[in-house]
Amino acid sequence: MEAPQIFHKDPSTFRTAPNLNNYEDTRKSFSWDDVADKEIAFFPDGKLNAAYIAVDRHLNTDLASKVALYWEGDNGEKEIFTYRDIAHRSNQFGNLLKKKGVRRGDRVFIFLPRVPLLYISFLGTLKIGAIAGTLFSAFQEQALFDRLENSGAKILVTNKDLSTRIEKIRGKLPNLSDVLVVDDPNFSAQLTSQENSLEIEHMEKDDYAFMLYTSGTTGKPKGVVHKHYAILSQHLTAKFVLDIHKDDIYWCTADPGWVTGISYEILGSWSSGATQVVYSGRFDTEKWYQILQDYKVSIWYTAPTAIRMLMAKGEEVVKRFSLSNLRHILSVGEPLNPEAIRWGLKAFGLPFHDTWWQTETGCMVLVNFPCTDIKIGSMGRPFLGIDAEIVDDNGNPLPTGTEGNIALIPGWPSMMQTIWNNEEKYKSYFVNGWYISGDRGWKDADGYFWFVGRADDVIKTSGERVGPFEVESALVEHPAVVEAGVIGKPDEVRGEIIKAFIVLKPNVTPSDLLKEELSQHVKKHLAGHAYPREIEFIDKLPKTRSGKIMRRILKAKEMGMPIGDTSTLEEY
Ligand code: WT7
Repeated sequence: MEAPQIFHKDPSTFRTAPNLNNYEDTRKSFSWDDVADKEIAFFPDGKLNAAYIAVDRHLNTDLASKVALYWEGDNGEKEIFTYRDIAHRSNQFGNLLKKKGVRRGDRVFIFLPRVPLLYISFLGTLKIGAIAGTLFSAFQEQALFDRLENSGAKILVTNKDLSTRIEKIRGKLPNLSDVLVVDDPNFSAQLTSQENSLEIEHMEKDDYAFMLYTSGTTGKPKGVVHKHYAILSQHLTAKFVLDIHKDDIYWCTADPGWVTGISYEILGSWSSGATQVVYSGRFDTEKWYQILQDYKVSIWYTAPTAIRMLMAKGEEVVKRFSLSNLRHILSVGEPLNPEAIRWGLKAFGLPFHDTWWQTETGCMVLVNFPCTDIKIGSMGRPFLGIDAEIVDDNGNPLPTGTEGNIALIPGWPSMMQTIWNNEEKYKSYFVNGWYISGDRGWKDADGYFWFVGRADDVIKTSGERVGPFEVESALVEHPAVVEAGVIGKPDEVRGEIIKAFIVLKPNVTPSDLLKEELSQHVKKHLAGHAYPREIEFIDKLPKTRSGKIMRRILKAKEMGMPIGDTSTLEEY
C-alpha cells in the first residue's frame, strides 16, 4: 500500500469557523442523551415530534420568516417558502389527512417527483403521528405494488402523471383507501381550505416516523423503519458534518425517494436552520453550475456518479461560473475515488468530503468533518457517539489493517428501529452484538476507515441500491426468459451497471432486438433506473446444488477473475 495523500486542514484558512472544532476531544465525552435537551426540542411532557423539531420549533425564532426552501422545477418554475410557510402548509396537510381518516401509525406513502408538496406532505404525515413512506418517481407498477402491499399503506400522495401507474395495481391493494392527486384542482381546493394550525402529536422517542424500502441480496425489498428520536442524529450530523450555519445556502442533490433526501433534505437540514435549494430537474452539467451560482450555494452534498459526470465535462465549464460562495462540499452513496477529490480541488478549490452510511443507519456514520484532515480515498472516521469496527463473520474485532466486515454498535438515535413486518430479517443484521453493515473495509492506525466492497450481491448503480433478485424476477416475467442471473458490473461513471445473464426458452432466437426488449421490459414494469444496461444470453446459470444462482461466479467470469471455491456448485 502506498501512503495515502493527505489533505491537511489549516484552521487559519477556514472561511467559517466549523460547528465542530475538535473531533477527538468532543468524541471522548460525548453522549447522545447529554446533548438531546440542548440540540432538539421536547414538549413539556417529555415527548417529541421530528417534524416539529425540523420546522415548527423555529417559529419562535428569527428563522420563522427566513427562506426554508428555494424550489426550482424542470422548466425553470420557481417558488420560495419560508419556515412559516412550510409549517403552515404541512399543518394543512396534516388536517386534511385527519379528515381522510388517517390515524397514528397509519402509513401514508408519497410518490412524487421533487415538488414542494413532497416535502410538505412528508412533514404533515409525521405531525399527525402517521408513518411516512417515500417512493422514488422512477418506480413502476411492480416496485410500487411490493412496497404498498407490504406496508399496508392507507393513503398514496401522487400526481396525475404518476397516478396512472397505480391504476393497474389499485384493485390488488385493499388497504389503500385514498389516492390524493396533488395537481388536481379539487385536491388543491381541499388542501387550502384546511386550518393552518394543527395539534401536533406528541410521540415517544421510539414511535415510528418514516419508512423506506431498500434492497438486499435476496427477496423483495425490506421496509426499514425509523423513529422520531432519529431526528437527534440527523440534526447533529447536519450541524457537525454538513456544517450548516444559519446563513448558509445548502443544496442536496438527492431524491427523498432515498434516505439521503429524507435525512438531509427534510429533517436534519431544516432542523439545523438551513435555507435549502431543491432542483427537481434532471442532471445537466451547466444547469447544476448555474444552480450553484444563482442561489449562491455555500454547502453542497452530492454523489460520486454526479461528480464523475461533471468531471467528464472538464474544469473549463466550471470556470465559466462564479461559485465563490461555495465553501464546503460533500459526497455520499458509493466509493468516492481519489481522482474525484483531486478534481474537486482543481475545479472548486475545495476537497469533497466523503461520508458513508446506509438507509438502515438513518444518519451519516463514517465521515470527514470540516475540521479534520482528509486521507484521500478514505471514508473518514465514526461520527460522535457511534462506535465502528472491522469484525470477522462471527463478530470478533479484527486487527488494524485487516479487511473484514464494517460493523457498528447499535444504539445511536437514528439506527433503524425494525424491518416492517419482518423481525427475523431485522435480527439477521446482528452478530455478537454488532450491526453488520454488509460492506467490507479496513481501518488504519489513525482510525480512518477504507472501503473495499459489498459483502453481498447488492448492486450500486449511480449510487442507487438495487437488489439483483428484483431485477431477475422482473426478467423472468418476460415470456422469452427461462431464468436470469443479475450482477453489478464495474463502470467508470456509474460505479456499477446492471448486467443480466439470461437463459432463453429453447425456441427463442437471441438477438440485439430481444436484448433491447428485455431491458425495456424491466424499465416499464420494475423501475426506470433498475434495468440491465447489458445483457448476455447464456446456456445455463451457475447454481448451487440446492438451486441457488451463484452470482459471484457470474461476476468472477465477467471480470476474468478466478472463480474461487466451487465445491458447493452443481455440475457446471
Ligand atoms: C450502501 C448504502 C447513505 C445514503 C445513500 C445510500 C454504499 C454509501 C458510501 C461511501 C462507499 C458507500 C455502501 C452502503 N455507500 N456511502 N461513502 N463509500 N460506499 O444508502 O441506498 O442504503 O446504500 O451504499 O455499499 O452499504 P443506501
